[in-house]
Amino acid sequence: MNIIETKNPSQILKITASNLIDKHCQFFRITLRQVQIGGKVCFQAEKFKDKQVFHENIDMESLQTWLQTNVEFVYKQVCVVLESTDVTYLFSANGKCKRLQKVTETKNTQVSGVNRTKNYLINEGDNIPALVDLGVFTKDLKIVRPMFDKFKQINRFVEILNHQFKDYTGNKITILDFGCGKSYLTFIVYYYFSVIKSVDVKIIGYDLKADVVKNCNALAQKYGYKNLHFVVADVSKDKLADEHIDCVISLHACDTATDYALHYAISHYVKYIFSVPCCQHEINLSIQSGGELDCLLKYGLIKERTSALLTDAIRGMILEDCGYSVDMLEFVDFAHSPKNIMIRAYRNKAKSGKNRQNIQDLMQKYHFNQTLYKLVYGD
Ligand SMILES: C[S@@+](CC[C@H](N)C(=O)[O-])C[C@H]1O[C@@H](n2cnc3c(N)ncnc32)[C@H](O)[C@@H]1O
Repeated sequence: MNIIETKNPSQILKITASNLIDKHCQFFRITLRQVQIGGKVCFQAEKFKDKQVFHENIDMESLQTWLQTNVEFVYKQVCVVLESTDVTYLFSANGKCKRLQKVTETKNTQVSGVNRTKNYLINEGDNIPALVDLGVFTKDLKIVRPMFDKFKQINRFVEILNHQFKDYTGNKITILDFGCGKSYLTFIVYYYFSVIKSVDVKIIGYDLKADVVKNCNALAQKYGYKNLHFVVADVSKDKLADEHIDCVISLHACDTATDYALHYAISHYVKYIFSVPCCQHEINLSIQSGGELDCLLKYGLIKERTSALLTDAIRGMILEDCGYSVDMLEFVDFAHSPKNIMIRAYRNKAKSGKNRQNIQDLMQKYHFNQTLYKLVYGD
């Protein structure tokens, strides 16, 4: 039996297999839909087991063989949805198959992620169930309007990761997320590495809030994300992972939580850092007039912005001192978030300490405190 009757599998919009014949199969239902991943259209299988969902991507050319192995005579009922027909195959345990056909209204044939006006790495309509549970997508995979800014942020973050890791040859990566909160970013980064890049990824997200961490762990379990864990921790004082970490990420980790993320990365020789700071209060609260830059401290709003920029500039300079190549990227448009600078750092040099004196002079002249400086240089 061949349930792909067309020479062109791209005409298939959806396949649903249900009602198990083979009791050894662990998935009680499988659905397949076309998706675009990394510019290539393929089928994505969603495999349901108890309360968990697993994903697998299948090339167009391999679809027929995959269906023969995983679907035909494994499930009693298999429904193949085409543009204007639905074909149902009823398989029986004694090796027989009955075919039923129904003509339907013409359906929308647009593939997730294809022919969209704005083609993000993650698109509205992409079948990422965690985004539904986290309230970023509706059940029919539309962006929830008030979540559009968050959707833009996580998409941009993943685009920047994709740029960095496009030629990544490793088959494993371990990542820490500092101040993960509800973990929109953490889930999408896990999805990006495991589903889009097929890299064996492990991520630990840290946050102060126990209820949020509990919810994120339950979601990770639901989707069978076995290497995604969330831990209640104060990153400024609790003991964090002691294993080899390749990459540290943080998105809007409040105030000095970003300094602790950067310090962890520096002291654990972490190679990649992607950090979007926010609420840089520390310098704003301690800085005093002392020299040529006093005009920037005269008006509250300008003082606040100057302090935030000074904080991130100093963080960048310290990272350089510690052997990182650093650049500052505009993360998203100011309209989507005013906290829009990303510190991107890659460890590829020897330590130098060349910026230390410059920072120390500024601190003495303007009497401000800076946590990363204290953590790295201890004075
Ligand atoms: C603005 S939220 C950002 C959450 C998430 N990264 C995002 O972008 O959606 C900042 C998070 O950092 C967490 N946080 C702040 N200070 C922390 C600390 N010292 N240790 C762990 N988490 C912290 C807060 O609980 C909060 O969930």
